[in-house]
Amino acid sequence: MGFPADFLWGGATAANQIEGAWDVDGKGPSTADVLTAGIRGVKRRRITDGVEPGEFYPSHTAIDHFHRYAEDIALFAEMGFNVYRFSIAWSRIFPKGDETEPNEAGLAFYDRLLDELDKHHITPLVTISHFETPLGLQRYGSWENRQVADFYVRYARTLLERYRGRVRHWLTFNEINVMSTNPWNAGGIDSEDEAVRMRAAYHQFLASARTVRLAHEIDPDNQVGMMFCGHFAYPASPDPADVIGTMEFMQKMLFYCDVQCRGAYPRYKLRELEREGIKLPVRDGDAEILRAGTVDFISYSYYMTHVTGQKTRGILRGLNGLDTGYSNPHIKRSDWGWGIDPMGLRYSLNLLYDRYQLPVMVVENGLGAVDTLQADGTVHDPYRIDYLRRHLREMRKAIDVDGVPVMGYTSWGPIDLVAASTGEMSKRYGFIYVDVDDAGQGTFKRYRKDSFYWYRRVIASNGAWLGDEDAGYADAADAKAAGDGLQQ
Ligand code: BG6
Repeated sequence: MGFPADFLWGGATAANQIEGAWDVDGKGPSTADVLTAGIRGVKRRRITDGVEPGEFYPSHTAIDHFHRYAEDIALFAEMGFNVYRFSIAWSRIFPKGDETEPNEAGLAFYDRLLDELDKHHITPLVTISHFETPLGLQRYGSWENRQVADFYVRYARTLLERYRGRVRHWLTFNEINVMSTNPWNAGGIDSEDEAVRMRAAYHQFLASARTVRLAHEIDPDNQVGMMFCGHFAYPASPDPADVIGTMEFMQKMLFYCDVQCRGAYPRYKLRELEREGIKLPVRDGDAEILRAGTVDFISYSYYMTHVTGQKTRGILRGLNGLDTGYSNPHIKRSDWGWGIDPMGLRYSLNLLYDRYQLPVMVVENGLGAVDTLQADGTVHDPYRIDYLRRHLREMRKAIDVDGVPVMGYTSWGPIDLVAASTGEMSKRYGFIYVDVDDAGQGTFKRYRKDSFYWYRRVIASNGAWLGDEDAGYADAADAKAAGDGLQQ
């Protein structure tokens, strides 16, 4: 009982949020490279028309992982990671996106990174596209154009062939459902028009399905997952109208999973598109492509839950607009307003497994908070330990009590990195502190936080020790179902 012996423990990052070196070794600009820095509650990130001189773009330097990857991976190994989720920057491999030949220097960088992971016996989990599309694809209209799916598949094939046997776990798109809430991040789409977003999502589904098939052809041992942003919601009241409003809110997220896990658009989505007069750019043979390209596992990011109901009918607010018009008196919020709900993690794991009967992986979860580096080089972050511990406890219940096959857990930002929503550095997630500020200034030196030692011990015990001696299960029935051995 407890976490399975082969459970994957680690952390997750994204190239544009850590690498820096935005134009080194032939890398082309991506959609992330024209996003300015924002400040929580004060200034939103801005998309500029190309790189403006004098403007600060956090992705250009980030935490300089491009030059420090060996040191960073050694620190992950010190914590006992057996998996590391990272993304490959598409425009390092195809600088403009539409070339026929890849950029060798870009591929060689990830060879070196994989060598380091090998050295430390860490399994790579690669996100093929994480919030960065080559800026060069803007001239095609980015993902609204079906041709971009061909460019993506060429890029994916390049990775699958180059890293065959070295990488066996893949995710096609990070948080694919962000196309509904922040389409610039999801795919270089800058439009409020739902029809445009739905066409772009359609092309991503095709690209993902083709990639899943290709991955299996190239190496039958490849496991390819889908990844979405978990926006799970509770009804504002038992009023059936609030329950229906919540159902609709969840469907706007879950249809992305339905297409990728079941291989077809669900009826509720087709009806909705019809009602809104949105026509998908369907061609002969597409249905077969979607059907043949269902994923091997499902993964998601879990940070918060929402309250929804009658007032949220017809809207979907995402990472950049958390206000649904309701609040939840039972949960606290982080400094960035994200509702902290560990039990919701158990709920969501159950919901997903019940619905798809596929192995599930939590590939992002963590607390963005302000940390203080002490004069002696320590960082005391009990709030982060508390957050993670409470989520891991609920995940363990999902495994033990409910029997959900959870493959692994990669906490978000094992090392401090640039925040995707605000572009800040001061929203820190890491077990490792990086001395760089919101303006990209600092020594870039790495420091172990208290949570570093905590997570190391958690992994060493395979999750049997979470450091909360008093914590048991929520009630006697849970404890009984889980068996005695599990309590601390
Ligand atoms: C997820 C993204 O949405 O949330 C990450 O996949 C992102 O890229 C993470 O960093 C946390 O969001 P933020 O805005 O705090 O960085």
